[in-house]
This record gives sequence, C-alpha cells and structure tokens, in this order.
Amino acid sequence: MGTAAAISAQGLSYKVGRTVLLQPLNLSFLAGEFVGVLGPSGCGKSTLLRCLAGLQAPSSGQVSFNGRPFPDLSTEERRRLGFVPQDDVVHGSLKVERALNYTGRLLGLKGTELTNRVDQVIGLLELGERRTLRTDRLSGGQRKRVSIAVELMGDPPVLFLDEPTAGLDPALEDSFMLSCRGLCQGGRTLVMSTHVMQSVESLDLVVVLQKGHLIYLGPPGQAAAYFGVPTLMQIYKSLAQQDPLQGMQRFAASPLHAAYVAGRAS
Ligand SMILES: Nc1ncnc2c1ncn2[C@@H]1O[C@H](COP(=O)(O)OP(=O)(O)O)[C@@H](O)[C@H]1O
Ligand SMILES: [Mg+2]
Repeated sequence: MGTAAAISAQGLSYKVGRTVLLQPLNLSFLAGEFVGVLGPSGCGKSTLLRCLAGLQAPSSGQVSFNGRPFPDLSTEERRRLGFVPQDDVVHGSLKVERALNYTGRLLGLKGTELTNRVDQVIGLLELGERRTLRTDRLSGGQRKRVSIAVELMGDPPVLFLDEPTAGLDPALEDSFMLSCRGLCQGGRTLVMSTHVMQSVESLDLVVVLQKGHLIYLGPPGQAAAYFGVPTLMQIYKSLAQQDPLQGMQRFAASPLHAAYVAGRAS
C-alpha cells in the first residue's frame, strides 16, 4: 500500500521491570512530515523518541525505517537517523564553525563538500552571525540551534528533537518552529517532543501521550475539538480528568485512528 513511511512503529511498547512506560502503539510518519509529540512531563515522550530513533530497544514490537525493520538495517543506515537530546551536546569552548567542521570531518566530509555543508547548515539554522562565537557565549536558543546543526551535518532523513524548546523564550518559539518546519523541505521527517502547546499549528501531525498511552494522533487543528477544549493549551486540564486507558480506547475507536494510524499501516 503506497510508499513506506519514513519511520513507523508496530506494537511498540517499553517496560522497565513491571512498569510500563509505553503501552503498545502503532504509528507511521511520512517523509517530509513535521510531527510533535505532546503530553505532560513523564508521559513517555523521550522514551518514545529514543525507541523510534533506535537508541533503545523496545520491549515488544518493532520500528521500521522506510519500511525496513531496524534489525535489517546496517549500522551505517541506523546511524543516519539524527537525535538531539534535551541537554546540549556541543562542547562549550568550541566556536560554532569549528564544531561543525569537526563533525563534518568525523563524517568523512572534506574540501568544498565540507565547507559547503557547513555553510548550508549554518544558513538553515540562521547561525550566520554567530559562526565565529564560542558556543558557551550563545543564548540557550542559539546553543540548541548549534546542537541541531551538528546533527544536520550528516543530512539525516529523520531527525528527532527531544524538547528543543525547553527553556526557550516563548517569544522565540514561533520563529524556532518555523526554522524547524524549513528543515523538512526536501523530504526530511522531523519528530519533536514538547510539553508546550503553543505554536502547534506549524506541525503536520501531533501525537499526544498520557501516562504512556497513545490518546491522539492527527492534525493539530482537530485536537482541541477532539479533547473538547477551546485551545490545545487547555488540554492538560481535560487530561487530568481522563483515565488514560479510556483515552487510549476512545482514540483507537475514532475516525482519526482509522485515518492516521490504521490507514497508514501497510
Ligand atoms: N529507566 C527507567 N526506569 C524507570 N522509570 C523510568 C525510566 N526512564 C523513565 N522512567 C519513567 O518513565 C516515565 C516516562 O519518562 P519519559 O519518557 O522521560 O517522559 P517524558 O519525556 O514525557 O517526560 C517517567 O515517569 C519516568 O520517570
Ligand atoms: Mg523527556
């Protein structure tokens, strides 16, 4: 059925001992989609991202990249998936440009290919005016852009960002989301976790987790109505009164599930 999803999960669950951090779930994200994984702190966002990125093995089920299950992929192919953790990864004393050059060389780039990639990535993340500064001289938001830039040096077909807007000035959030949207051009899939509900309109799809249960996957514009709140910002209040198991069952029976989960499974 159609083209394979860029990244998909079938029956993916994650447990630690007897604690279930993620209930079995199915999902598929297509090439070029900008996806937000939303939900209160502790609901399983990072766990889901790490499983989808191949950084931790699920307790059950599997993850596929372009329709091929992870165990069938070469180390090289798996390494191409990008992941930016919540905490900064770039060494503070390095200048932006040097950090990117260094990463590029580790990836085997050299000569004009390397300088072109550095320029391209700096342009994509609007770091032009910061390129010769040490990363520890940058603001939190700029440092986050550098972390993302480092991952983009490998031109990942799928890029995961774990809470990239945490600690970001709300006024900068919209422009940050727009930059991220730009990263999807050319077919890159971007999957971002966030507990902030602002700026969700720039996303193609939102996933909402509640205590490890998938309770919504669909367009951001339909989510508020689905949860019966005026705007998505109020969703947490509505969730506080909802049993996660019932939320999961309600979603599994909804037309959104038929369209965006079952309808995408091949
Ligand atoms: N290794 C672990 N062992 C036990 N519990 C864990 C482990 N890792 C995470 N958790 C718990 O699982 C839940 C989900 O964690 P996480 O995926 O980090 O949530 P989020 O990113 O949405 O804040 C949290 O309640 C967290 O405390
Ligand atoms: Mg997290």
